[in-house]
Amino acid sequence: MSKLKLKKVTEKLSDQIYGLFQEIPRFEETQDENVANGLSRDEFRKYCCILEMASKNILISYVISPMTYYILFDGETPVGWFLLKTEKLRNEVLHSGHIGYTISPKKRNMGYGTAGLKLLIQEAKKKGYKQVTVTTDDTNTPSIKMLKTCGFKKFPKNSKIQKITKAHYEGMSQYYLNL
Ligand SMILES: CC(C)(COP(=O)(O)OP(=O)(O)OC[C@H]1O[C@@H](n2cnc3c(N)ncnc32)[C@H](O)[C@@H]1OP(=O)(O)O)[C@@H](O)C(=O)NCCC(=O)NCCS
Repeated sequence: MSKLKLKKVTEKLSDQIYGLFQEIPRFEETQDENVANGLSRDEFRKYCCILEMASKNILISYVISPMTYYILFDGETPVGWFLLKTEKLRNEVLHSGHIGYTISPKKRNMGYGTAGLKLLIQEAKKKGYKQVTVTTDDTNTPSIKMLKTCGFKKFPKNSKIQKITKAHYEGMSQYYLNL
């Protein structure tokens, strides 16, 4: 592992990160759908352009929540993505960020997930979030270990956030970290 860095997804970065999005399966039980898997290079460039606009909050916020996609680079090699999204529940914007992440299957269990999450927490602090949350499957051992290492705690089962999202999060738990 050399120097790790998170870079925001931009149209300019698309050629460098195209391969990463093709390595990560389109469907994987534990992750959000990777809609970029299977796109041509040109389509992927446009996809990156949309993600860049979303990070600048140019897209209408009720269509797509303000969110920023970051790529974790080990030196020049992209190894995974991290997502930081403004939490919205019933149109109420909370002062918290929701996090998602996926490491390339070839690069897992090498410490990238934990190291990348630590960098993203620093980024969320810089953006002024007061709290970050993560939803993860109760069977996703590597993800839960990452969260514990980084100091996240599980929301109690009867907390407001768990009740509102109950149907969606069956078999999953919400974790939080106050910043
Ligand atoms: C979850 C994920 C990001 C973890 O990334 P990673 O780079 O493999 O994580 P790390 O190497 O930092 O490992 C974290 C911990 O999990 C452990 N671990 C990693 N892979 C494991 C496995 N397959 N089984 C059991 N433990 C595992 C590591 O030993 C480490 O434990 P430690 O904290 O005791 O040292 C990765 O598995 C992934 O991309 N999964 C698919 C997408 C996903 O599930 N995203 C989470 C959605 S919220």
